[in-house]
Amino acid sequence: MAKIEKLQPEIINQIAAGEVVERPSHLVKELIENAVDAGATEISVEFDLGGRYVKISDNGFGISKEDLSLALAPHATSKIKTVHDIWNLNSFGFRGEALASIASVSKLSLVSRVKEAQEAYRIESDFGKISEVQSVGGEFGTTIVVKDLFENIPARLKFLKSDAAEHTQIKNVVKAMGLAHPEVCFRVRGQAKLLYFWEAVKDKKLRVQQVLEQDHLYQATGSYEDFHVEIYMSAPNNTVRTSKQMWFFVQNRWVQDRGMQAAVMDAYRNLLMHREYPIVACWLEAPLDEVDVNIHPTKSKIKFNQPSNSYRVVNRAVRAQLEKAPWLDEFLGNSAMSDGDAAVGSQPALNYEEPPNTIRSINSPQASLLVEDTEGAAYAFHDHSKSLQFKDSALDKIQYEQKNIIPANTQGQYEEPVVEKNQSSAHWGNLQVIGQADLTYIVTQSASSLVLVDQHAAHERVAFEKLMFAWKEGRIDVQQMLIPLTFQFDEEMVEALVTKIEDLKRLGIFMEQMGADTVAISAHPQLLKPKAIQWSLESLAKEVLDKGDGFSVEKMIGDLCATLACHSVIRAGKALSHAEMEDLLKQMDEFPLSSFCPHGRPVYVEYEFSKIEKNFGRIV
Ligand SMILES: Nc1ncnc2c1ncn2[C@@H]1O[C@H](COP(=O)(O)OP(=O)(O)OP(=O)(O)O)[C@@H](O)[C@H]1O
Ligand SMILES: [Mg+2]
Repeated sequence: MAKIEKLQPEIINQIAAGEVVERPSHLVKELIENAVDAGATEISVEFDLGGRYVKISDNGFGISKEDLSLALAPHATSKIKTVHDIWNLNSFGFRGEALASIASVSKLSLVSRVKEAQEAYRIESDFGKISEVQSVGGEFGTTIVVKDLFENIPARLKFLKSDAAEHTQIKNVVKAMGLAHPEVCFRVRGQAKLLYFWEAVKDKKLRVQQVLEQDHLYQATGSYEDFHVEIYMSAPNNTVRTSKQMWFFVQNRWVQDRGMQAAVMDAYRNLLMHREYPIVACWLEAPLDEVDVNIHPTKSKIKFNQPSNSYRVVNRAVRAQLEKAPWLDEFLGNSAMSDGDAAVGSQPALNYEEPPNTIRSINSPQASLLVEDTEGAAYAFHDHSKSLQFKDSALDKIQYEQKNIIPANTQGQYEEPVVEKNQSSAHWGNLQVIGQADLTYIVTQSASSLVLVDQHAAHERVAFEKLMFAWKEGRIDVQQMLIPLTFQFDEEMVEALVTKIEDLKRLGIFMEQMGADTVAISAHPQLLKPKAIQWSLESLAKEVLDKGDGFSVEKMIGDLCATLACHSVIRAGKALSHAEMEDLLKQMDEFPLSSFCPHGRPVYVEYEFSKIEKNFGRIV
């Protein structure tokens, strides 16, 4: 039997290093955070050789001669004294591990000079073998050079990606650190080239512009309980194919947090296409004791005591800003969103399959959209006159009238809901309709542009928003069943559904449990056919089982409305009268997010006259 022995300190450090600095980019983050903790206002970063060479200098308060050897010792920190301090942190470091870990897997030199000292002092590590402290010439502050990273651990070297890939990671970290600390000036050189120079700025907005190099981001702020957010976000047509352009900071700490990411994505839901991601930088300030930072070796994850609060504050702020649709002001206000051919890339013609014998009309707000259902009986898909009549669209507040509705509350009283009208009113209604092209696009013009509106996508959005509104207000036509519909599911699914009986009522679905594996539906929204009810219940049960508390009814409602909207509206290929086209545009003004169909496709493309004039050689 092998004898149990205590590990040598070097080995302990190397194991710790494996966790703290898996990759070169991790050590860059640790060293920058140390500099920030030291009160630096200027930090310079240099890297090369896939990050196996890194040099970081700062003008912070430095490390005294006496403390130098402790700086490289494991579990030595100046930042916390008691366990309690972890809940009250005002520094990024707290473990006293980073430098010791890095020193054990590299040739490291640390030179530092505090304000009071006449000279600087240097300490070195040769893969964990620590030198004597020597006096050297040097500026105030600290410079750390890391060379030959992981040379003593071949397994870890093999694990590294290509130099280019490691450089990309380092640049990412540097950007995150830049975003986290606008008050710090950063100079970053990679492979001897100056990559970034970000002067110190007074606010996040300016730093976002420097780092993300995006001119068209919109600011959102919000609070919920004691959680506050400041967010910079792109319009839904300014997206990227990866979630890497979503940056999250909690108490200025860069974190990967799925909850916050989901909060953003859920807010953009129905505005983005599959695999599109917005560009977002989001800062959350939470009460100190609500956040546990000590749950991950690289400190890149945190744990909220109340994850629902952080979700809510982020989700609401993003949603509120999206609903204001600030990019529309630019759209019709002469300033181009891009200098490309069109503000939004051209889309292929939409070719939606539609149920046969579909009767539709959007002649007037009173018109019903009639859809032939599969059983053969026509029913009102969406009756504007009854369920969502706009009494006076010129009013700032829109009031909705509804008789044949389910009450939102259990007392059975109707509340007269009032909703803020789209603040950016009459964008679409002000467009002058020229005609219809290819029986698909409404051709219009503004003062500065030719604007093509996709009739199907536009109407789909309008129908979607109306449905969403009705649903949110608990005002949706409900069909009472004489004989309840019954559905069978797995027992665990039924259990999950039963926990959501009240939420289902908000969806207009009145459900009771009939047996261990059976539920009965006594009333459901008129629009939902039995097949769709079954599908909805099934996906709801799955969501609840998957997500537990993270489950969101809003998302469920959004999915349902998007599906319903898509199947109910005018399609490409239908001739529209001038009045019908104008009417559709006017309806679009009643909803804030009209510039995207609920599947995220753009509703319009814009061609600026100035660009057209250039193409004709009228101006050069
Ligand atoms: N750039 C710097 N300027 C001044 N002091 C520094 C600097 N870098 C490190 N130190 C000192 O060295 C100590 C050890 O640094 P190290 O990064 O290993 O641990 P930490 O920052 O305390 O905790 P963590 O392991 O969580 O980063 C710090 O507590 C700090 O006192
Ligand atoms: Mg540290």
